[in-house]
Amino acid sequence: MSQIDFGSDQPPGLEDLDRDLLIPPARYTTPEFAALERAHLWSRVWLVAGVHLDVAKPGDYFAFDFGHESILVTCDEDGTVKAFHNICQHRGHTLADPGSGHCDRFVCPYHGWEWDTGGTLRKIPLAARFPQGFQANRRKLAPVACEIFAGLVWICLREPEVSLAEFLGPIYRHVQPYHAEAFQVNWDWTAEWGCNWKTAIDGFNDTYHGPATHPQFSAFIDTTAARFQYGDMHSLFVIEHGVRTGKDAAAEIGEPMASALRRAGINPAQYAGRHEEARARLAAHRRAEATKHGWDASGLLDGQLTDTHHFYVFPNVHIDFHGANALTIQRFRPHASNPDQCLVDVIDLKRVPKHGTLKRTAHVHVPLGQPQHGIVYVQDIERLTRIQKGLHSSGFSGALLSDMERRISHMHLSIDRWLAPHVPDALRTRLT
Ligand code: FES
Ligand SMILES: [Fe+2]
Repeated sequence: MSQIDFGSDQPPGLEDLDRDLLIPPARYTTPEFAALERAHLWSRVWLVAGVHLDVAKPGDYFAFDFGHESILVTCDEDGTVKAFHNICQHRGHTLADPGSGHCDRFVCPYHGWEWDTGGTLRKIPLAARFPQGFQANRRKLAPVACEIFAGLVWICLREPEVSLAEFLGPIYRHVQPYHAEAFQVNWDWTAEWGCNWKTAIDGFNDTYHGPATHPQFSAFIDTTAARFQYGDMHSLFVIEHGVRTGKDAAAEIGEPMASALRRAGINPAQYAGRHEEARARLAAHRRAEATKHGWDASGLLDGQLTDTHHFYVFPNVHIDFHGANALTIQRFRPHASNPDQCLVDVIDLKRVPKHGTLKRTAHVHVPLGQPQHGIVYVQDIERLTRIQKGLHSSGFSGALLSDMERRISHMHLSIDRWLAPHVPDALRTRLT
């Protein structure tokens, strides 16, 4: 077997291909649905907080907003990673500004209360002016559940209902063998987009728009050849690189496989018409390279060494491996008050040989309406902003989805499971 087995080839509940799922557009546009998500989804699921390397040393921290919440992740004196609500327990001022840094005390700018990296209150100016004393629960920052997996810090805003491993299920099993903890950040940016967080993630769960929206892809990747697999709430698509079928079966190896072979010292011209052999040869080369560079690739199947594996982590993250040495994380965050906006974080990571380091470029924040980074994102946000407008139209009653867009239906069915029984009929997805 050269490809992983993630689950079913149809989303659970959507096995009957003759039936469609009506997704009411108001799920994308109304404060009412955003409030349901806040109360019954975001507070209960495991969420990606950031990159473990950003809190690798005692005193490292990062802070970020998630909808109405603000979260602080620290590395304590003993090296433990901890997460807290980024909120001073005196009067509720936020403590750290969004972004990362290094310190041994968080000083609230309003009245000067000081907290250490473990969340303990260390200093209260004019403490004698509090004759009532300090209740024990006001002496600590409010903790948030936190775990490390795949080089990422994960949090759960409420007491977790299941462990991270259980929540991630097949993601946990199939991402773990990449040893993503050895990856380093190459670049990362955050952008404010003029669409709902679901509109944004739909745009990356859908491979149907590739030819029309990103015509440049056809030179090096066939997005229409993506094979989908579905778990309970997460999903995966795989694009096998270098596979040619039908009249192209005897052709020369195309891009990006041809370049990958050349970089491995293999002449692609020798493998015309023998694409599976070329893929096996490249996988063997990459296994040998892994051993040379000191990481264990034995848990990866051959396909994971050569192909695109695009993992959708319910509800709002993509973990997208390009072969086994390059990784893109995308995180889609809801806006605190406006369902027509969201925040998109993109992190590009690379595997770095033992004891090596990567030069990381400074994090960039792209405000709403400003030019995006990279042509693909320029193309996507142009389309997605117009989709968001269409979702408000009285002339649009809901999408008709192809089998290349079934991840969208899958996500909405999963959302409804988390929101049940709170979703009013008008906002509920239904089979038609
Ligand atoms: S609100 Fe933080 S010290 Fe007063
Ligand atoms: Fe796109």
